[in-house]
Amino acid sequence: MRPFSVAISGKGGTGKTTVAALLVRSLISSGQVPVLAVDADPNFNLHEALGVEVHETLGSLREDAFTEQIPPGMNRTDFISLRFRKSLVESVGFDLIAMGRPEGAGCYCFANDLLTTSMQLLERDYRFMVIDNEAGMEHLARGTLGIPDLLLIVSDPGARGVRTAIRIRNLARSLGLAATPVRLVLNRWKGTTSDELPAAFEAPVVIPEDPAIEEADVQGSPVGALPPDSPARAAVERLAGTIIRMAEEKERQHRS
Ligand SMILES: Nc1ncnc2c1ncn2[C@@H]1O[C@H](COP(=O)(O)OP(=O)(O)OP(=O)(O)O)[C@@H](O)[C@H]1O
Ligand SMILES: [Mg+2]
Repeated sequence: MRPFSVAISGKGGTGKTTVAALLVRSLISSGQVPVLAVDADPNFNLHEALGVEVHETLGSLREDAFTEQIPPGMNRTDFISLRFRKSLVESVGFDLIAMGRPEGAGCYCFANDLLTTSMQLLERDYRFMVIDNEAGMEHLARGTLGIPDLLLIVSDPGARGVRTAIRIRNLARSLGLAATPVRLVLNRWKGTTSDELPAAFEAPVVIPEDPAIEEADVQGSPVGALPPDSPARAAVERLAGTIIRMAEEKERQHRS
């Protein structure tokens, strides 16, 4: 059975990476391990939010497989498989893989197929998969990472932000994710809970503006390390609870 996969999408700078990192940490603290964190943004930085280092992305691996000397006695398939394993960052409770840049003009079908297969084999080892996407829908559109079990669309709480979120949802639907549940995540909420929530989405998730996140930014410390009682982390912990229940329901349906 595939892990329960959560894709995080949304306009640039709305807090996708922050939410992804906090979600990974919340799942770990709930004992839902191991988690696979996937950085699907070419400008990868999820590792920083989680406090680990990335040495290589799948994008650079794919380039090297065609431009570098492959060691004697090794074929290209072995070379790619070996480097794929090396690109996986292993940490406590989670592993991380960074997709890097999408391919250039050349034909990389061979490498892509192999990487897709490698991803599918890798996935099986995890309970949850959290995918931090770029502002676009590149990987969702290409289907590189399969169809997620849940799509989170992160937005700022303003009306314009929510309109963009609606566009993203419609785009996701047209890209074959019509059956995927979608939740709107209103991040950096400054209002009170009595403020009107956008009616276009069912039960939006509210994450408050949290000074501790800005502080972590300034200090250059991983946002994922925010204490569980900080407001944003606490909100994501609750979201994690909902996600865990969804995963349990999926498991029940799978068994019956
Ligand atoms: N709840 C919050 N409270 C305070 N600051 C926040 C909150 N969420 C995110 N931020 C800040 O907003 C900025 C953007 O966040 P983040 O990098 O997570 O967004 P993103 O959507 O991943 O951006 P990009 O589209 O560039 O990948 C960061 O400086 C982050 O620290
Ligand atoms: Mg980001």
